[in-house]
Amino acid sequence: MSTTTESGRIDDIRDARTLFPATSSSAYLNTAAVGLASRELTAAYHRYVDEWSENGLDYARGEAAAETARTSVAALMGADRSDVALIASVSAAAGLIAAQFGPASNGQNVVIGEREYSSNHFPWRLLAAKGYEVRQVPFRNGGLEPEDIARHVDRATQLVAFSGVQTASGHRSDIAAIADTAHAVGALVFVDGSQMVGALPVAADIEHIDVLATSDHKFLMNAGRGIGYCYLSPEVRDRFSPLNAGWKAGRVPFESFFGPTMDLSSTASRFDNSISWLAAIGDEAALSVFDAFGADAIFQRNMDLADLLRSALTEIGRGAIDLPVANRSTIVAVPLAGAEPAELLATLKQRGIICSARDGNLRLAIHFYNHEDDIAQITSALAEL
Ligand SMILES: Cc1ncc(COP(=O)(O)O)c(C=O)c1O
Repeated sequence: MSTTTESGRIDDIRDARTLFPATSSSAYLNTAAVGLASRELTAAYHRYVDEWSENGLDYARGEAAAETARTSVAALMGADRSDVALIASVSAAAGLIAAQFGPASNGQNVVIGEREYSSNHFPWRLLAAKGYEVRQVPFRNGGLEPEDIARHVDRATQLVAFSGVQTASGHRSDIAAIADTAHAVGALVFVDGSQMVGALPVAADIEHIDVLATSDHKFLMNAGRGIGYCYLSPEVRDRFSPLNAGWKAGRVPFESFFGPTMDLSSTASRFDNSISWLAAIGDEAALSVFDAFGADAIFQRNMDLADLLRSALTEIGRGAIDLPVANRSTIVAVPLAGAEPAELLATLKQRGIICSARDGNLRLAIHFYNHEDDIAQITSALAEL
């Protein structure tokens, strides 16, 4: 795969790291926290801010960038751009959906994961105040197994919410199986895609999902963040009310500043929030790298490197949480086994390795700008420590 970018021609995806300056000074295994900046991203920010300083801010350019970004993220989700809304964050998307639920009746309940990231947990917990029973499913292998979910779902279940990939363990959910259980009783399927969209193919799963939300700062590579993306299936968006509607939710936003009519968009953009124009400029540029290499090549490189990392860890006797192949992702979690997380992370940082510790694991996250060298670096460090 060859491509040409701001920095010049890149002949091979294995050299993608040359587009990301920070990779020259560290083995960066922390995309599950925040992604790295490409040269495209920083150049676009510099240009926009310079123009802002010289001529005033071009907000129409910011709006246009957001539309390009919406198209790019929709493609990564395997969705049509008309099904994707621009939102503030994953928690805002979950809150929007939770707000659609009226007072509970007849034992109505929602089913969530016990150790889900809070943005996909607290909005549902708050439904208890409306009378919903909030059923928390314990994790197994660091994630949610379809049969455990099935034990908590009954005919009064209104929603099943979970992560496509668990942030602390990298456990990839069996979306189709969980969704089948939920849909069999008419429950809504909400998926947090923060650790999945941009890292792995999603297109085969999208038909099983009602709502899929992701933020922009991890595998979509704008760590400055500012926009989230929310897929809403056509059925769901016709059923739900765009509670945050403003000018941006109009059929033609720039013609929707003042009523007196309310002509809302017929697409998912009627759920749009007003965006950060700066974030939109960043997202457009960050996402252009997917087009440069091709998303499939990126996903393949991600899984190849993650597999290599897993086997290298096994070789040094520091095996990652053992997951069936279907549950593996680009996050590889190594049990801390009693190590003090802050101390271990500081020691690794001194050796030029950047990663995180989450929920009892050292969390190593791969994105295509990683390289075999990074894997050699982390495994030799862990073998010595
Ligand atoms: C699994 C998961 N969901 C969501 C988020 C972010 O949520 P929000 O967009 O609400 O800040 C993160 C990390 O920032 C995450 O790891």
